[in-house]
Amino acid sequence: MNELTSNDLPFRHLLGIEGLSPDDITEILDLSDQYVAQNRQVDKKRSILGGRTQINLFFETSTRTRTSFELAGKRLGADVINMSATASAIKKGETLIDTAATLNAMHPDALVVRHPHSGAVALLSQKMDCSVINAGDGSHEHPTQALLDALTIRRRLGHLHGLTVAICGDILHSRVARSNIMLLSIMGAHVRAIAPPTLLPGAVERMGVEIFHNMAEGLKDVDIVMMLRLQNERMNGAYVPSTREYYHFYGLDQAKLAKAKPEALIMHPGPMNRGVEIDSDLADDINRSVIREQVEMGVAVRMAVLDLLSRRSTNQPPVGPEEAAPNGRPEGPGEAAS
Ligand code: CP
Repeated sequence: MNELTSNDLPFRHLLGIEGLSPDDITEILDLSDQYVAQNRQVDKKRSILGGRTQINLFFETSTRTRTSFELAGKRLGADVINMSATASAIKKGETLIDTAATLNAMHPDALVVRHPHSGAVALLSQKMDCSVINAGDGSHEHPTQALLDALTIRRRLGHLHGLTVAICGDILHSRVARSNIMLLSIMGAHVRAIAPPTLLPGAVERMGVEIFHNMAEGLKDVDIVMMLRLQNERMNGAYVPSTREYYHFYGLDQAKLAKAKPEALIMHPGPMNRGVEIDSDLADDINRSVIREQVEMGVAVRMAVLDLLSRRSTNQPPVGPEEAAPNGRPEGPGEAAS
């Protein structure tokens, strides 16, 4: 049994952005860039994870994260198993710890977990012999989302250092916001949090961000506008008077966007509530919105993370798509390509 914390990152698990260094993040982003190129080729498959087993265990709904982790594993040649809580023995009362012990007995090489409770993925990682990747735990962290957001920004603007990024909306319930605030701060960006007082966690001030309750003030001259979904499923009671009023004050529309730099990019992790946190035309604006690019980067980032964790767990350097043999050519598992 392994007693591992996020400080072990990225050598065995990826439980969060917390504990990563600028070099760790740069290494993941550099490798992701190579996988973006591979994913744009006709032959997208490599066999560097051949013989490895990846289990995706999702206790919450997901479109982007689950599909991209499945694609990522398959494009690297792993056998990928998808499990949802509703179709598992958890429905019959099995505990999270017993589920972990059961899966561990099957000798997977990577376990990708999404769970509604903060800390559940870290707890589970202590019961597993394989790498565990946090695909979102409660309102705690969603590290691969922050990495794919960083990759999207870096590919568009060339760097992260010195940029001003406004994260807007339901920050209180957002693991995406927490992971992004940490990553962007580690990489030298300036982060602003814009939200109504009811949707800002008290601890956000200690994370070194500038706080605004007014969109026009908070968006002034920013490079990036990152909108967040209003997470109704995590709300007990009313945090905003109505979605109509929320959109009026905090929804991104042309008038509010005009305060940002003329070339500022619009981001959203998805799923979007059009007309609640973002104007539908802005979400689809091909010049300003990079929301679809974020989805594309998600596959590449998850391939890079699976590759790096796999190589680190066997003490081998990451292979990456350039050196790896294309699918079908012989390549032994764990072999570093020459
Ligand atoms: N951004 C994100 O995590 O989306 P899904 O819930 O669809 O995975």
